[in-house]
Amino acid sequence: MELKSRPRRLRANEAIRCMVREHHIRVEDLIYPMFVMPGENKKVGISSMPGVYNYSLDEFVLALGEVVKLGIPAVLLFGIPESKDSVGSGAYHEQGIVQEAVRLAKKNFPKLYVITDVCLCEYTDHGHCGLIEDGQVLNDPTLHLLAQTALSQARAGADMVAPSDMMDGRVGAIREVLDREGFSHIPIMAYAAKFASGFYGPFRDAAGSAPQFGDRRTYQMDPPNGNEAMLETALDLEEGADLIIVKPALAYGDIIYRTKERFGVPVAAYNVSGEYAMVKAAAANGWIEEKRIVLEALVGMKRAGADLIITYHALDVASWLREEGPA
Ligand code: PBG
Repeated sequence: MELKSRPRRLRANEAIRCMVREHHIRVEDLIYPMFVMPGENKKVGISSMPGVYNYSLDEFVLALGEVVKLGIPAVLLFGIPESKDSVGSGAYHEQGIVQEAVRLAKKNFPKLYVITDVCLCEYTDHGHCGLIEDGQVLNDPTLHLLAQTALSQARAGADMVAPSDMMDGRVGAIREVLDREGFSHIPIMAYAAKFASGFYGPFRDAAGSAPQFGDRRTYQMDPPNGNEAMLETALDLEEGADLIIVKPALAYGDIIYRTKERFGVPVAAYNVSGEYAMVKAAAANGWIEEKRIVLEALVGMKRAGADLIITYHALDVASWLREEGPA
């Protein structure tokens, strides 16, 4: 049979497959999310996220040693405070848990790129990402607290801040305060397209940040909406965002693709806690091949247009890449 084009010719063996491979995962693409908490000598496993821990600061520094040894360039920090209150004061306290963690990280590993999550929900007793009045999450009064949070993190030495609260106007509010206080060089990675997702469940176990009433649907995006994600991203960029996060990643490949096509800015895909938990649970049962599935999912995010991948699999992925060269 005369076929002009036979795509199988370029699939004949690993050498040629490798030569024509279009996308790769590099260790430089990875951002590892980590949880820090008060106390000493504590490394508490999160049951729905096997292999992920809440660290006291001393243990956190030890764990960072591993991260750095594996060549992972960046971490994204979340804090679990000693106590929570209605205004989330642990989020913007100069000696807050994340602020202390940033100082320690930069002191011990000056070249490690330290990113901080900017949000109130880990710090509020009601578990919402903003101030509450009459059962409503207030937008504008929350902005000041978010800006103070970002500022205190920058003062502690954070290299970049990542607002995840989804209040309107927060990127602008943070940019203004950072600029005014001498941090115009600190980039903002905005969770611009953050959906009200069922995939955040295990994270909320880890951070104790599940809302105590209602849900996050009045501020996080409605999952069916793609055009609205473009609006959110346009607004965040106008307000001064430097990088854009799409979150979750797996069910939102179209959003990653559209964001990259339309805006051309650096895009980070957040491979969230529930996505991680599903893989871990199925792998533990022997139902899937963990390494193969994880690398396939991550390269799918790259193919969709992600430049960076925030993932709890980062340590595993980095060591797999080391064993085998780039995937
Ligand atoms: C804080 C925040 C959340 C996540 C990142 N930042 C939780 C939420 O919005 O409920 C989720 C991360 C994950 O599931 O891995 N607002």
